[in-house]
Amino acid sequence: MRDFRPALAFPALTPWFDAVAKVAIRDDVLKRRLSALLPLEPGQSVLDVGCGTGTLLLHLHERQPQARLFGVDADPVALAIAEQKGRRAGVAWSLTRASATELPFPDGQFEVVVTSLVFHHLTTPQKQRALREIRRVLNPRGRLLLADYGAPQTWLEALAFLPVRLFDGFDVTEANVQGQLPDQMRQSGFATVECRAELPTAFGYITAWQAQPAPPAEPMPA
Ligand SMILES: C[S@@+](CC[C@H](N)C(=O)[O-])C[C@H]1O[C@@H](n2cnc3c(N)ncnc32)[C@H](O)[C@@H]1O
Repeated sequence: MRDFRPALAFPALTPWFDAVAKVAIRDDVLKRRLSALLPLEPGQSVLDVGCGTGTLLLHLHERQPQARLFGVDADPVALAIAEQKGRRAGVAWSLTRASATELPFPDGQFEVVVTSLVFHHLTTPQKQRALREIRRVLNPRGRLLLADYGAPQTWLEALAFLPVRLFDGFDVTEANVQGQLPDQMRQSGFATVECRAELPTAFGYITAWQAQPAPPAEPMPA
């Protein structure tokens, strides 16, 4: 599986992701705020798509220690760091190397799917495939929380986002800049897509959208 962009664009930089994110996007504050957005109940199954080094999973565990946590990421180096952090914190979660576009889980397994800062690493076809996969593995009454850079509203915000575009790529960040992520969610079978938070970082606002699967279409009257 070589078709993915690592957390900091170059594989050799992945071990530095936590340190860089802590300073550049105040990662601990960000992940605490994201984890607070979801009602989590004991026994619920929660999947983090593109879990990286496991920081959001750790915050989700703090919020609801009895949730069953799963993470997938394409990068084995990030997953090894997450495994280590989980062991240190004494958390039993299940991490798997897999692509967001091909989730190794049966239909409807999860009550909650979260994904943070992954979609600006995916091309438009990958975004669409990943959303369809997330929709498939979500319980029909489940929730998706997707956090990623929103469309810059001013030229100053566009300028602040430029380093991310230069680093991660103009192709994969275009849908963010155009504000297309909510529409892509709707087109992939989600309804009630709502903005739950806009979190400021040095590179612009990270928007957290919550979405629920659209109910199945009514059969056409005969
Ligand atoms: C910026 S990091 C964010 C990591 C983590 N979600 C967080 O918020 O700290 C982006 C992550 O997406 C992962 N990724 C990129 N493309 C992927 C794909 N196609 N499938 C699964 N993971 C992917 C990268 O390996 C990396 O860990």
